[in-house]
Amino acid sequence: MTLTQEVATPAACDLQLRMSDLISALSLALDLTEGQPMGHAVKSCVLGMRMAEILKLSVETRSDLYYALLLKDAGCSSNAARMYEIFGGDERAAKKEVKTTDWSRVTFDGLEYLMRNVMPGRSRLDRVIAIAHIAINRKDQSTELFQLRCERGGQIAKKIGLSEATTKAIYSLDEHWDGKGFPHGIKEAEIPLLSRIMNLCQTLEVFAAVSGPQDAFQVIEERAGTWFDPELVAACRELEKDAALWELLETEDVRAKVIDIEPFGVFQYADDPRIDSICEAFADVIDVKSPYTHAHSKGVTAAAVAIASRLGLEKEIPVIRRAALLHDIGKLSVPNKILDKNGKLTAQEWEAMRLHPYYTQRILERISGFKHLAFIASTHHEKLDGSGYYRNLRATQLPLAARSITMADIYDALSAKRPYRDALPTEKVLEIISKEVPHALDESCFEALKAIAQSQAPVAGIP
Ligand SMILES: [Fe+2]
Ligand SMILES: [Fe+2]
Repeated sequence: MTLTQEVATPAACDLQLRMSDLISALSLALDLTEGQPMGHAVKSCVLGMRMAEILKLSVETRSDLYYALLLKDAGCSSNAARMYEIFGGDERAAKKEVKTTDWSRVTFDGLEYLMRNVMPGRSRLDRVIAIAHIAINRKDQSTELFQLRCERGGQIAKKIGLSEATTKAIYSLDEHWDGKGFPHGIKEAEIPLLSRIMNLCQTLEVFAAVSGPQDAFQVIEERAGTWFDPELVAACRELEKDAALWELLETEDVRAKVIDIEPFGVFQYADDPRIDSICEAFADVIDVKSPYTHAHSKGVTAAAVAIASRLGLEKEIPVIRRAALLHDIGKLSVPNKILDKNGKLTAQEWEAMRLHPYYTQRILERISGFKHLAFIASTHHEKLDGSGYYRNLRATQLPLAARSITMADIYDALSAKRPYRDALPTEKVLEIISKEVPHALDESCFEALKAIAQSQAPVAGIP
């Protein structure tokens, strides 16, 4: 197998998972990209299921709503680079505030939002020019940003086999009752009911987390008829009195609760092919965050599988493949102002970067049967001599499966263009890696990589 071949479908892992287990864990990564605390989508889903009870929705519709809420931000990484380009600051902070401030309209709140989020740290003149530019182009830019996000989110839901109703609900999440939402400005009953419920629930969750349920309901009331469907606002009043619900949302393990409340009778399961397609879909979510990593996860996967195959790790290949697809899921926590920076990272920026494998571990270890996978995915920056990150593990703690992903990651990263340098030719990549063998990088993985890289022509242009 060569590194440029499409990643082959693996042999079965014999794992069958509840979709709710897998998707609710992966939703934690989407929260990070949105600048929200991990658990935002899961909590919005709990609120949505309560709304579904009040509205007496059918069990099938509840199931559509359930997955739409967990994956409502699936398209969020697709506009991160563009948002950074427009704002010139931390797009995660800007995204966080956009859920509470209507920045796209000319209001005092909107102006304050721009003052806080546009080009922080730059000169006053630079900032005023940038804010004026945003103010002039706000409608086109808002439409562009929301369209990118909505289309991508809908495509991901479709790719992993969710219903059309779920796909459409994600697509229209940011439309407002008065027609002033995005991307199409549709209004009232033109907006799918599920999207209207989702927008209400996510807003309730965000405000309740910041300043408590009472304030959250006040905001919802104020926006009845503008952002939200007035009938849904009236219906959700019942939730305000439910002290047990708000206590539950404060507890540590809301994710376990959300798995419990998947609409009964229509539990969805993920068998091996579906788990693989979900991992592939999330690899796309990860890669699309930065223009410099547009094919990184799939490139690492192809290389890791090729190395593992050459080393005779056939039995482990299905797990290595999934781990490689998801190894950088924690990178969704890193702002694009760091990922796309054309220059040396500051100590603080580097610290944020070093934490991404930690988030990979935290997200993946929660999925049933993914413990080993989470470990080998999260060790991709560890080195045999203890000089790697984030746990400074050493050779005896790093199995060959983990070492093959590390080798593949370095190979793909050096072979691709970065903000601060061009893509390097294969000979140069191998020369750089050789300097870390065998004290920091595994010799057998390097020999396998060399044999694979040298056996194909041309090698340059590996994704
Ligand atoms: Fe990484
Ligand atoms: Fe990576």
